[in-house]
Amino acid sequence: MLNLGVNVDHVATVRQARLAESPSPLEAAILCEKAGAWGITAHLREDRRHIQDADIRALAKQVRRLNMEMAVTDEMVAIAMEIKPNSCCLVPEKRTELTTEGGLDVAGQFEKVRRATEKLKSRGITVSLFIDPEMQQLDAAHQCGADYVELHTGKYSNTRGAEREVELQRLHDGAVYAHTRGLKVNAGHGIDYENISGILTIPHLCELNIGHCIVGRAIMVGMEQAVREMIECMKPYRLGD
Ligand code: PXP
Repeated sequence: MLNLGVNVDHVATVRQARLAESPSPLEAAILCEKAGAWGITAHLREDRRHIQDADIRALAKQVRRLNMEMAVTDEMVAIAMEIKPNSCCLVPEKRTELTTEGGLDVAGQFEKVRRATEKLKSRGITVSLFIDPEMQQLDAAHQCGADYVELHTGKYSNTRGAEREVELQRLHDGAVYAHTRGLKVNAGHGIDYENISGILTIPHLCELNIGHCIVGRAIMVGMEQAVREMIECMKPYRLGD
């Protein structure tokens, strides 16, 4: 079965636009769970542009399964060690980016990622590394001791036609390779109600993390309905383990 993790960052984006008290990512997360979401994802960015410390603490206490996205920094590792989310997804972060642009360069900063992975796992936190579907990065993720990789689907989502087909093949090959290395495979970034049909052809997927399009759709139809529609789109998936 393919699980849905809903990323509630952009509920906080709307709130932070006015530095107001609502809408609340926690309230949204609870509606997502009610609609059948398997898990909740939130990214505590170093610049705190959307999710705030109080949000991540409240989510860790009150949702069934929290996946905390975070940069590989001492500050974020310390927060995760304290609040103990179910899983952490380590991502690259640049202050000027609109959203996470590329995968984490695990091979290029191997010791740093390995140490963070080891520490988080020692606290019973499952660790996922958000990477591009490249063999070198997949090998490094495996050597780091990560439980999961989350394959970056951003290039797939941002391209069309033949270019998109190339990206889909890379994701397919990456998932197969990760599986043979014993890594569990998630995917995320830029997935929407339409482009998900290609994503469903990738084998060995456990979980999709989807945020922007669900929060956008929720503005029109409500959070529960937006989540239910996405779960409906995911139902045909048959290529899991
Ligand atoms: N997975 C990761 C690691 C991400 O950084 C993001 C964006 O915060 C997502 C999934 C969700 O991407 P989107 O909001 O485009 O659905």
